[in-house]
Amino acid sequence: MSQTSTATGSEIVFADVVKRYPGQGRAAVDHLSLTIPAGRIVTFVGVSGCGKTTSLKMINRLIEPTSGTITIDGRDTRSLDADELRRRIGYVIQGGSLFPHMTVGANVAVVPKLLGWNKRRIARRTDELLEMVGLDPAAYRDRYPKELSGGQQQRVGVARGLAADPPVLLMDEPFGAVDPITRTHLQDELLDVQAQLHKTIVCVTHDIDEAIKLGDRILVLQDQARIAQYGTASEILTNPADDFVADFTGGGSTLRRLALERVSSIELESAVLVRGGDPVARVLAQARERGTNQVVVVDGRNHPVDWYWTNTLRGERVQVRPGRQPILLDEDATLDAVLDALVTSFHEGALVVDHAGEFLGVATFDEITRFVRRLSAEPVDESPAEGAQRPGEIEGESRPDGAGQEPSC
Ligand SMILES: Nc1ncnc2c1ncn2[C@@H]1O[C@H](COP(=O)(O)OP(=O)(O)OP(=O)(O)O)[C@@H](O)[C@H]1O
Ligand SMILES: [Mg+2]
Repeated sequence: MSQTSTATGSEIVFADVVKRYPGQGRAAVDHLSLTIPAGRIVTFVGVSGCGKTTSLKMINRLIEPTSGTITIDGRDTRSLDADELRRRIGYVIQGGSLFPHMTVGANVAVVPKLLGWNKRRIARRTDELLEMVGLDPAAYRDRYPKELSGGQQQRVGVARGLAADPPVLLMDEPFGAVDPITRTHLQDELLDVQAQLHKTIVCVTHDIDEAIKLGDRILVLQDQARIAQYGTASEILTNPADDFVADFTGGGSTLRRLALERVSSIELESAVLVRGGDPVARVLAQARERGTNQVVVVDGRNHPVDWYWTNTLRGERVQVRPGRQPILLDEDATLDAVLDALVTSFHEGALVVDHAGEFLGVATFDEITRFVRRLSAEPVDESPAEGAQRPGEIEGESRPDGAGQEPSC
């Protein structure tokens, strides 16, 4: 995500914004004040009808506020021409909402055309964007929306929103109604695009996991767009402002927190690195000297190929056992991925390697458990965090001292 200072996006500020729809007693948005920083993704979450779409549409004046002010880079949006404003702000809504009578290419090109770009520039930009959202331009450019799947239409919608390279992109449930795999893929694409372009993106979603994954900051809204909490994913998950936010983020917030942390956040256990054929007696002496009971067998490029506890080493020479390739995790792996690997493999540790595949250390259940306890700041003997709790294995049958099963199978 965009953590750099090279933001090309614009800062958006809501000051005391109210929206009262005609004939409605209650305001849909009641005095919303909020700063959306330039170059960041802010996600809006909240229950249905709480005012997310209304708030979003007031930014590009598809809906006019009843009172209060919205500024973009310090300029009151009311001082800007509404059409001009909408051209400068990309807008993506659920389902892509493409023009059915226009080809995919023409749909993407709508705003550049309005801006008077020449044909060559439009064609180049259209192809570039289709590629960016993972659609082969040659195969898709001349199709009509009805010839695309729902997920593909949504991608075209995202491409169209980005077409004129607007500093601000508004997205209303842009990935709703697609299957979880396509959704994950589209989210990843958006994050990749954002890492390059540093726009200000405001994204409305019902899905707290999506909000956490995409948002540099998350705005949790209550009825009438009252702010329940506005903060980073870590802040919201670790210190929910009140019961409403805690309920909204729901159970499993510790696991979600793990999804935000890299394996570099925990201490890795060291191991003695050996080669197949090394004398076992020497390896054991080395392990004693280093104070570790882990032995990792590496090949000529320092890539792990097998893994032992010291008390499971047998015979005179270290063997590389066929079919015993240990689980390897990249140094960028998130802690929930580590936990997932450990749970599904029934190992209590996994080997972490760097980008070149060289061994860095062993990520253990114990360390993740410790990390989770620090996170939730709970006393150690009280309800350890979910997910890290595998009593039988941590405490008993599978212990790091090698009394249980072997680390590798
Ligand atoms: N055109 C309208 N006229 C009258 N009331 C409206 C209008 N549009 C929305 N509302 C009301 O304003 C409130 C906020 O609606 P809004 O569409 O902003 O909610 P939302 O948070 O986007 O909900 P959802 O998650 O269901 O999309 C709701 O109570 C809704 O009924
Ligand atoms: Mg809505």
